Amino acid sequence: MIITIASFKGGVGKTTTAVHLASHFAQKSSTVLIDGDPNRSATGWAKRGKLPFTVIDERVAAKQARNFEHIIIDTQARPEEEDLKSLVEGCDLLVIPSTPDALSLDAMIQTVQALKTLGADTYKILLTVIPPKPSTDGQQAREMLAQAGLPLFKTSIRRLAAFQKAALQGVPVYEVADARAKEGWKDYQAAGKEVSNASTK
Ligand SMILES: Nc1ncnc2c1ncn2[C@@H]1O[C@H](COP(=O)(O)OP(=O)(O)O)[C@@H](O)[C@H]1O
Ligand SMILES: [Mg+2]
Repeated sequence: MIITIASFKGGVGKTTTAVHLASHFAQKSSTVLIDGDPNRSATGWAKRGKLPFTVIDERVAAKQARNFEHIIIDTQARPEEEDLKSLVEGCDLLVIPSTPDALSLDAMIQTVQALKTLGADTYKILLTVIPPKPSTDGQQAREMLAQAGLPLFKTSIRRLAAFQKAALQGVPVYEVADARAKEGWKDYQAAGKEVSNASTK
């Protein structure tokens, strides 16, 4: 399965999502993460520590990725509408992370509507960095997206400091010594299961 992670803004959790979906699939089968962001954040993450899968540069992907069962592709932010079409066509599922703030949601919804016109149905929005109660941002974002009729992961990813520690230490969140690290891993495990279910439909 080929899963691409893309978004219209930086800093919405793309690389964090790519690393943790790859960690999820690596539990069962051979998995590779293709680093398609010129910033090479996923490559840096892997270099700082140890990840349970291989991270490869996009420039060697054509040669190396064919040996793996699951391919996760991290990308840079800000695809144009046209890029979006190619992104969707180039994978089995396009995962679009978004934080729950109204402004970035608005921009994302506009662009993603274009996918509907293309008849693409192999993409799904993942709400990330959701603040804890009493904030209702996550719930509001969910309602806004439902109203726009856009496909959305049932799982949202909570805002947890453990994710930042994981990036710094170069490991998946479950390796971090943090009281709430397990919750972060639970969120991505649930999202990973949804990805598998989406692919068998
Ligand atoms: N669920 C989360 N909770 C807290 N911080 C997060 C979460 N997801 C990502 N971050 C942090 O937000 C920043 C941007 O995340 P990153 O995955 O690099 O986004 P992108 O690849 O879209 O630029 C990083 O500092 C990362 O550690
Ligand atoms: Mg990134």
